[in-house]
Amino acid sequence: MFYSRLVRPVLFRVGAGDAEAAHEFTLHALARTGAALAPLRRWFGVPTPRTVFGVRFPNLVGLAAGMDKNGIALPGWAALGFGHVEVGTVTWHPQPGNPRPRLYRLPASKALINRMGFNNHGSQALADRLRARGPVPVPLGISIGKSKITPVADAVADYRSSLRVLYPYGDYFAVNVSSPNTPGLRGLQDRALLDDLLAGLSAEAAQLGGPAKPILVKIAPDLTDHAIGELLGVCADQGVAGLIATNTTLARDGIAPGDAVTGRQAGGLSGRPLAARARAVVEFVHRETAGALPVIGVGGIGCVDDALRMLDAGASLVQLYTGFIYAGPGLVRSIGRAVR
Ligand SMILES: Cc1cc2nc3c(=O)[nH]c(=O)nc-3n(C[C@H](O)[C@H](O)[C@H](O)COP(=O)(O)O)c2cc1C
Repeated sequence: MFYSRLVRPVLFRVGAGDAEAAHEFTLHALARTGAALAPLRRWFGVPTPRTVFGVRFPNLVGLAAGMDKNGIALPGWAALGFGHVEVGTVTWHPQPGNPRPRLYRLPASKALINRMGFNNHGSQALADRLRARGPVPVPLGISIGKSKITPVADAVADYRSSLRVLYPYGDYFAVNVSSPNTPGLRGLQDRALLDDLLAGLSAEAAQLGGPAKPILVKIAPDLTDHAIGELLGVCADQGVAGLIATNTTLARDGIAPGDAVTGRQAGGLSGRPLAARARAVVEFVHRETAGALPVIGVGGIGCVDDALRMLDAGASLVQLYTGFIYAGPGLVRSIGRAVR
């Protein structure tokens, strides 16, 4: 109530012309105040501990990739109750992303369309920041993607460079092959290319030594069941620890009439219109693997019921992005209370 009546209207006004401005304002405010907010964690972060792919999570609700690409507000996210944070996606080469505006609100649909294009400071800058800041209050996922200037043929080396510098700092790594905003990236979900990529990353991890860390693959909701089936075969062969399902969609189903014009923007759609498809993908993966492969369910979780249905579909953990923008941190707490 406090968020939707007072905070959200102010933020949405800050970003009236450019939704990204509101996002940056919030992120930087959280980065500045995060440590001071730490006592809030007891309110927002309802303990529901669970160990998944060998990592102990204080609760089941995580922050999805893309919100804090450069990892600048980690104590802040923990204070808002999140049980893990997935930073990134970062790329080996720092890059500005696509021209602005590149983020749009579809308020009647409780959705967003973005074509950010992996704007980020680069993997080395993230590694330097994580080294300087020391331990993070909650498990940290690090999402890595392909630099725009790197041709698909050289993608493996590009991802490997990112994994090499970031390996000491993540509790798990997410291989992002599903953003719709980097040309050629989703092609890496195809059997042969994904096999090469995952083999390359395992080889890199083995060279780095120490205990092996979980590597997860984040997939698109736009894959056919057949393509997901093939991908699961590759993941099993390559010892992938889990899947993150799903990224944003290129489909435009479920957009409210009031958002019809904005709905024509290019990019990935997230939020409520994605919920049913994301859940169906989680259900499919859970069934195909007989529950053997942990899944982080993400896509369109905007209320407690959405989260519970995602868990029922077989997700071991859930993540929020768009639902958090619309509902605020009270949603993290409500889900935690319902799960407990
Ligand atoms: C503005 C924006 C930026 C995003 N950036 C990334 C990203 O860098 N890497 C990634 O794996 N997913 C990214 N995502 C996708 C989200 O992590 C999530 O998979 C998707 O939005 C579906 O969840 P939601 O409906 O709760 O938003 C982004 C989403 C949005 C809205």
